[in-house]
Amino acid sequence: MKIDVLLGLQWGDEGKGKVVDVLTPRYDVITRFQGGPNAGHTLEFNNIKHILHNIPSGIFRDETLNIITNGVVIDPIVFKREVESIEKMGVDITSKLVISTKAHIILPTHRILDAASESAKGKSKIGSTLKGIGPTYMDKTGRNGLRIGDIAYNFNDKYEALKNKHFNLLKLYDYDYSLDDEKQFFEGIETIKRFQLVDSEFILYDLMEQDKKILAEGAQGTLLDIDFGSYPFVTSSNTICAGACTGMGVAPSAIGEVYGIFKAYCTRVGSGPFPTELLNEDGDNLRNIGNEFGSTTGRPRRCGWLDLVALKYSMMLNGVTQLIMTKTDVLDSFENIKIATAYKVNDEVTDRFPYSLDVSIEPVYTELPGWNTNLTGVRDKEQFPPELVDYIKFLEKELQVPVKFVSVGPDREQIIEL
Ligand code: GDP
Ligand code: IMO
Ligand code: MG
Repeated sequence: MKIDVLLGLQWGDEGKGKVVDVLTPRYDVITRFQGGPNAGHTLEFNNIKHILHNIPSGIFRDETLNIITNGVVIDPIVFKREVESIEKMGVDITSKLVISTKAHIILPTHRILDAASESAKGKSKIGSTLKGIGPTYMDKTGRNGLRIGDIAYNFNDKYEALKNKHFNLLKLYDYDYSLDDEKQFFEGIETIKRFQLVDSEFILYDLMEQDKKILAEGAQGTLLDIDFGSYPFVTSSNTICAGACTGMGVAPSAIGEVYGIFKAYCTRVGSGPFPTELLNEDGDNLRNIGNEFGSTTGRPRRCGWLDLVALKYSMMLNGVTQLIMTKTDVLDSFENIKIATAYKVNDEVTDRFPYSLDVSIEPVYTELPGWNTNLTGVRDKEQFPPELVDYIKFLEKELQVPVKFVSVGPDREQIIEL
């Protein structure tokens, strides 16, 4: 059985956690394959809201195996906190989650380096979540990193050696810091030791041979991809479908469905260009109605209209086979809804995502009538107002891929399969 992948098509926070939780009953296994605690994936059910950072969003469903695979970077301190809060909910997490020996570990000094680097950048800072993601992936590609498998072999010596390297690097920055969470770090390492640490590429291979159904849960979004996102305002991993192959150790031919998830509008948190950003009342309304504040950092998210130039680019990079539209209900009260179908770049109209978004870009908009209906209680597509049907038809015609799910609220139940 092939592995299905679910990916964000925008700048993250598309509702991946919610939809993975909804889809989990159809799968035997859920994996996280890249990113780390920069991710914040929100799940809501039974009036409980839960935000996951390192752990796959299949963790609350029975009978599901969750795997953190090699491409992920893990912060033991965040991981321990997550494990404890999930255990408080009565979930036997150690029997439901395994971790790759090849996943890299975020050290407290990686977080300090992240903060020092951002502080040195001043106004041109990335707007990182400051979780140590960039420095950890730098150590991975620089071949200095510590992996989960290292915990079993002279870990303390390796930790000290890398920490001292980081102290030397920190001398390059004019940055005051104190290292005060080493104790929590080692407690987190003890928590990790309670789990089965595995060569997850073999586990996935065996599960595929047994015809098990596997869903890979992306983190961040395509426009934050290290190669194809709005560089340098990106994260430090490949968030696209190809990243699922390297992040799990599976062949490209092993990928089945590619679910592309997008909000009915756009958001971005952190710095960097955002062509359809709304710095007006419409943007404020999207933020307030959509409760657009970061799940990981609490920062207000920047909001704007849906951008089909960016969305088509993301779909091309990922080979999306099915679309999932979320936060549709946030547009319920808008009289008219705009969608960018092209960009005007230096007076030339294009539908291709340009190399640099720093040039003067004027989005070319199509305006559609809003539905002015409360969608949050809708559970059947027969109840869709005609304007929403037209909105979806318009997107499917432009994007040439069917919209298979429409989400109308944060709860597990608030979703309609088309
Ligand atoms: P993720 O990082 O892609 O998992 O998304 P986040 O959890 O960071 O952000 C999505 C936010 O929107 C969360 O607060 C979700 O509870 C919420 N959400 C998800 N789907 C919907 C929806 O269809 N409507 C509304 N109003 N909120 C939603
Ligand atoms: P989920 O999985 C939204 C953004 C940060 C910053 C840039 C680099 O919840 O969708 P990093 O911490 O990786 O160095 O930050 O990427 N960013 C996210 N934005 N959702 C996320 O994850 C993000 N993870 C990173 O705001 O602009
Ligand atoms: Mg998020």
